[in-house]
Amino acid sequence: MFREPTENDGSKMYTLVKKTKVLDLNSPYSYLMWAKYFNKTSIIAEIDDELVGFISGFIQPHSPHTLFVWQVAVDKSQRGKGLATNLLVNLLKQLEDKNIHYLEATVTPSNLPSRNLFTGLANKLETNCKVKECFSAEQFPDSTHEPEFTYRIGPLK
Ligand SMILES: CC(C)(COP(=O)(O)OP(=O)(O)OC[C@H]1O[C@@H](n2cnc3c(N)ncnc32)[C@H](O)[C@@H]1OP(=O)(O)O)[C@@H](O)C(=O)NCCC(=O)NCCS
Repeated sequence: MFREPTENDGSKMYTLVKKTKVLDLNSPYSYLMWAKYFNKTSIIAEIDDELVGFISGFIQPHSPHTLFVWQVAVDKSQRGKGLATNLLVNLLKQLEDKNIHYLEATVTPSNLPSRNLFTGLANKLETNCKVKECFSAEQFPDSTHEPEFTYRIGPLK
């Protein structure tokens, strides 16, 4: 059910993000690229060969023990069942040999499910979740964009 993505999953990842109507939709190319070159730090969930959720992530270039979670998306039909939490837990398992000490993600203030996802993960892993502003609203070209707050979870070991 959980596995690393391949380049053949990129277009399905794009379509799932488009369907959420909440996440920033990046170019189709970026999802193909992520699935092909950032597969080790990303994960997908499938049910009956259908992609129902994914996380795209990377290890921060200047902080090799910090996993940055870029996007998390779960198909509407599967929400509220713990799937996003399981994706995060399984991604950390996938990276067991990389000594990941912290997981970071940015969240907009209005995204309650996402805030609960990351604070809930910290509770389940019995660790801290520190929140601070990452990007202010003014830093975005589009003046309607909310600020993004970093949720830093850890230490994980
Ligand atoms: C955010 C999202 C990935 C959560 O996926 P999910 O599989 O439903 O999440 P889970 O079932 O693992 O729930 C995680 C936590 O969030 C809470 N939660 C889930 N949906 C919620 C909702 N609609 N409102 C409030 N809390 C919610 C759960 O109760 C759980 O909390 P707990 O750990 O304290 O019990 C999903 O709603 C989604 O894809 N949303 C659109 C895209 C998005 O906003 N992505 C996140 C930005 S990075």
